[in-house]
Amino acid sequence: MAILVTGGAGFIGGNFVLDWINHHDELLINLDKLTYAGNLQTLDSVSGHPNHVFVHGDIGNTELVGQLLLEHKPRAVINFAAESHVDRSIHGPAAFIETNVVGTFRLLETVRTYWLECSPVRKQEFRFLHVSTDEVYGTLGPQDPAFREDHPYQPNSPYSASKAASDHLVRAWFHTYNLPVLTTNCSNNYGPFHFPEKLIPLVILHALEGKDLPVYGDGQQVRDWLFVKDHCSALRRVLEAGQIGETYNVGGWNEKANLDVVRMICSLLDELRPRTDGISYAEQIRFVRDRPGHDRRYAIDAHKLEKELGWKPAETFESGLRKTVIWYLEHPDWVQGVTSGSYRQWLTSQYHG
Ligand code: NAD
Ligand code: DAU
Repeated sequence: MAILVTGGAGFIGGNFVLDWINHHDELLINLDKLTYAGNLQTLDSVSGHPNHVFVHGDIGNTELVGQLLLEHKPRAVINFAAESHVDRSIHGPAAFIETNVVGTFRLLETVRTYWLECSPVRKQEFRFLHVSTDEVYGTLGPQDPAFREDHPYQPNSPYSASKAASDHLVRAWFHTYNLPVLTTNCSNNYGPFHFPEKLIPLVILHALEGKDLPVYGDGQQVRDWLFVKDHCSALRRVLEAGQIGETYNVGGWNEKANLDVVRMICSLLDELRPRTDGISYAEQIRFVRDRPGHDRRYAIDAHKLEKELGWKPAETFESGLRKTVIWYLEHPDWVQGVTSGSYRQWLTSQYHG
């Protein structure tokens, strides 16, 4: 038995790989292109593990993926691989179209070729789980109900448009070719191994370095936060019991305005690693130019996953955020490894350009 995970050196994929190896005695093939967001240090604890095989490569490389499928005959493919940062998609959308749209298309085709050749039993057991985002649904007003699975797709950024396109491809491969697919649309994740271009790790690290804490616009945009390990448990559950062709929204019921999130991080750091001058980290908050096309509010209605598959998140935002801040304080080596030259260039172009 084996599974193929794509993008398993990234934030969520990396957490999923570590989590899976803890829960299953089964070979896991981890295919990752190692873009700026992929980091083998995240996988240090499973390097050399007999159930983990890392392969450096692109989901769009049909030959490589085809070989991996034939060699390992996985019972499932879980597709995390993507360009994932909205701000980068605004500066350079091409890579998002290449991986998220064309790459997903190529992966689907390679997987379909493999699946068609499987024995009837294996064919029936096989699943393609596509990991997607709530951003495909667009933005909500303050009083709107949270996104359900039947909410229309209204993506607003190059990133979310590329993820929406990939979701549509996955859907079409089910309806047209009967490929046994599952799709999850998850809200904002946070937790260990999160690349510090994203709000929560960026604020933790900037605070500790005495830098400005950049809050876009008025800071009243709302995100619905989910601890990454809860996302992993949801994915395991959907893979195990999800209905073929269905989509499942995954969320933590933790809607928070960005400014409140930043203030919570400051309070945790004031308690856990106070500034030597005794002043709160909140003094470092700065309002900066807003993100173009910035979605105002996301909120996930995760009732379907709870009612049909019995999944619920284990962490509250308070407990998960505390664990996250402590993780960053205790892992300066990982932080140093990812904050390389190209990361510093990104910070300069995004915040001082
Ligand atoms: P990430 O940017 O941290 O990691 C992406 C990984 O994919 C990296 O390891 C990268 O090297 C790899 N990759 C990129 N292009 C590739 C390619 N062509 N072939 C093989 N590997 C490639 O992203 P993440 O935050 O871990 O997100 C993982 C998935 O979950 C994405 O599909 C994203 O859209 C989705 N998602 C993310 C969030 C979130 O809050 N981070 C929420 C919901 C859904
Ligand atoms: O909703 C799920 C999505 O969550 C995923 O699909 C994406 O891959 C993931 O990156 C995330 O997207 P966001 O754009 O919501 O995450 P980000 O951490 O970039 O920003 C969170 C909020 O904080 C958003 O409203 C923008 C704001 N922000 C972000 C940064 C980096 C700031 O105010 N300042 C910042 O410096």
